[in-house]
Amino acid sequence: MIKVINVVGARPNFMKVAPIVAELKRHPNEFLPLVVHTGQHYDAAMSDTFFTDLDLPQPDVHLGVGSASHAAQTAAVMERFEPVVIQEKPDWVLVVGDVNSTFAAALVCVKLGVKVAHVEAGLRSRDRTMPEEINRVLTDQIADVLFTPSADADENLLAEGIPRERIRLVGNVMIDSLYQHLERAQQSSIKERLGLAGARYGVLTLHRPSNVDDRKTLGRILSALETISNELPIVFPVHPRAAKTIAEHGLLERVKRIPNLQLIEPLGYLDFMSLYSGAQLVLTDSGGIQEETSVLGIPCLTLRENTERPTTVTMGTNKIVGTDPEKIVREALAALQLSVRTPAAIPLWDGHTAERIVAALS
Ligand code: UD1
Repeated sequence: MIKVINVVGARPNFMKVAPIVAELKRHPNEFLPLVVHTGQHYDAAMSDTFFTDLDLPQPDVHLGVGSASHAAQTAAVMERFEPVVIQEKPDWVLVVGDVNSTFAAALVCVKLGVKVAHVEAGLRSRDRTMPEEINRVLTDQIADVLFTPSADADENLLAEGIPRERIRLVGNVMIDSLYQHLERAQQSSIKERLGLAGARYGVLTLHRPSNVDDRKTLGRILSALETISNELPIVFPVHPRAAKTIAEHGLLERVKRIPNLQLIEPLGYLDFMSLYSGAQLVLTDSGGIQEETSVLGIPCLTLRENTERPTTVTMGTNKIVGTDPEKIVREALAALQLSVRTPAAIPLWDGHTAERIVAALS
């Protein structure tokens, strides 16, 4: 029996781990999957609802780490995860994505000599001021197997001197979740609840420290929204980090005054999918949303200067527009002219990535 610990920590991890755990459970004579939640995200809206929406089994172990500085959070995951690995003696530990929990768990394993595989390896923004970029580079250096979503990721890893034998191009596991849940998501009543049934609308998400922690940058994004929202109502599910910094910067009144900008709590997986899949336009600084909108053919403007997911630009619907208000407005108005949706056909983003990952573990 092959025992596999699947580590989740923060919101973008759940939709990557769920299809892998489901696939492991399809082979009960071969695999014993365990789910360990570090507790990096702990609000019901940032964590619990995803277990229900994604049919992800409740964690076998919860480390209860919570929020803290990068060093304290990373250290707390390491301290609390190490005894779990020692006790469970897994054959494999799977870590996904690029959050602090990802790197912390991988580092514990490599020091204990336990095999660790990184899912969504090889993505690079080449922006080392992003905490996620540091987590990606370091996790890829130490993991035994690197499961990559796209060919550019393989090239990045090879360029960093990682031997080809450690790299497996398997595709994008988050797209497995998207295809599995798209039909169920269409039954969500979120559009009715927001008064948007049958309406044209846009969706905004913001949470990157470079956008929300910096008052000037946040102000530039708000200027753009002040114009765009005259043309298109916009829904903004507010990430806790953004909620905190908008208030701290004294910008809440300005945000509330923007016409047609609807501020709502963070949404669960199905409600959010229902919302963005019906949108005319998505404005975001998230990584995963660039991929999801590309697969569905929805225009996406990325409010960053770079992306670690260039495939979404070359083959998908994503445009990197930065934070210059004039550019954001220009690109948003241009995107609203598009009447045809062209879903991206990206190799191996086919809903079968978890099968390829699990096959590689046996
Ligand atoms: C983390 C990840 C980021 C990912 C994002 C998705 C790192 C370095 N960052 O960023 O890559 O894209 O999650 O959401 O791992 N908070 C709550 N409730 C929660 C969680 C957080 O209120 O359930 C608040 C706390 O005030 C906390 C702040 O949000 O200090 C930031 O949380 P943290 O986990 O440090 O980073 P994120 O910005 O969420």
